[in-house]
Parts: sequence; structure tokens; C-alpha cells
Amino acid sequence: MRHLGLTLAAAALAAALAGCNKTATPPPAEQAAPSPPPSAMSDVDKQKALATLPAPYNAADLANGESKFALCSTCHTLAQGGPNMTGPNLHGVFGRKAGVTPGYTYSDVLKATGWTWDAARIDTWITDPKVAVPGTKMTFVGLKDPKDRTDVIAYLMIGTGYKP
Ligand code: HEC
Repeated sequence: MRHLGLTLAAAALAAALAGCNKTATPPPAEQAAPSPPPSAMSDVDKQKALATLPAPYNAADLANGESKFALCSTCHTLAQGGPNMTGPNLHGVFGRKAGVTPGYTYSDVLKATGWTWDAARIDTWITDPKVAVPGTKMTFVGLKDPKDRTDVIAYLMIGTGYKP
């Protein structure tokens, strides 16, 4: 009985996490281990994580990225299993198709892009979402400074479990 309960719990968890990261799906035991948000990491761990990112993100200013992410965090969570809010949870967003986070209702226009999110797409998107995808429900004014976008994308990579 106890074993069955655990199996069912694991299956439910796997189902809840399905679609989280299509390119490399680790076994359920690993998926269950939450990665700490960059804000909870030590400076040494942050620098280590930063060094694994592709250029130019490996040279980003993570402190600035974190402060710029405050503009996003009113609508988005990054951690694995984090809730959808006004915007969808963003864990595993790099390499994933636009508009597929389970349990979140996207605009038709975003789903219709057929995009797969990579750093360049996200850069364009957060410059001015309503220009990138007219009719989107992401009512965010945009980050006009390219350095701010690079920094926040590096923060997103670390916070969403980006795998090079
Ligand atoms: C006012 C709320 C709000 C803010 C602020 C906001 N977003 Fe969003 N975001 C949304 C909504 C709503 C959507 C869904 C858009 C749609 O369906 O058209 C979205 C979608 C996204 C997506 C696509 C996710 C997917 O699964 O396809 C990404 C990536 C994203 N936002 C990143 C960001 C980043 C990075 C910031 C900060 C620089 C930010 N957002 C700020 C509300 C917000």
C-alpha cells in the first residue's frame, strides 16, 4: 500500500512536470530536487553558474539581472514547480516552444508564433512584447537597454535551469 502510494505520488509529480524540459528530461528523482533561485545562491555558486553560460551571458552582471528581474517577478516565477501567476512559470523556458506551460492560458497570438525560446528570441520579446507579438497579453513596457536585457537573460538562464 505504502509503496503504491509513493508510486502514484511520483507519477503525479512526473505528470505535473511533463513538458517542463523537453530536450533533456531527467528521471523523476532529479526533477523533484528544486534548484535554488539565483537570489538564494552564494556569490561563489553564482559565479560558477555564470561561467557555464554561453557568451555574452557568461560576462553578465547578475546583480543587475536580479534587480531587473524584479520587474518580471510580479507576473512570473522561475523555480521548478513554481505557480503560474499573471504570466506562466518560466522554469525550463529555454529550448521550449512558446505557449506550452501546463495549466496556463496563453493568448492565441503567442501560441501561433511557433517559436522556440532561445536567448535571442527572449531578447527581442522583452525589448517590447507588444511589438514582438502584437496582441500578446504580456503587458510589459519592455527593457530598452541591451545590457539590462543581457543581464536579466543570464539571471533567467540560471533561475530556470538552462542547460548549455
Ligand atoms: C504584467 C505582467 C508581466 C510582466 C511584468 C512580465 N510578463 Fe512575461 N508574460 C506575461 C504574460 C501574461 C505572458 C503570456 C503572454 C501571452 O500569452 O500572450 C507572458 C509570457 C512570457 C514568456 C513566454 C513564456 C512561454 O511559456 O511561452 C516569457 C519568456 C516571459 N513572459 C518573460 C518575461 C520576462 C523576462 C519579463 C521581465 C523582463 C516579463 N516576462 C515580464 C506577463 C508578464
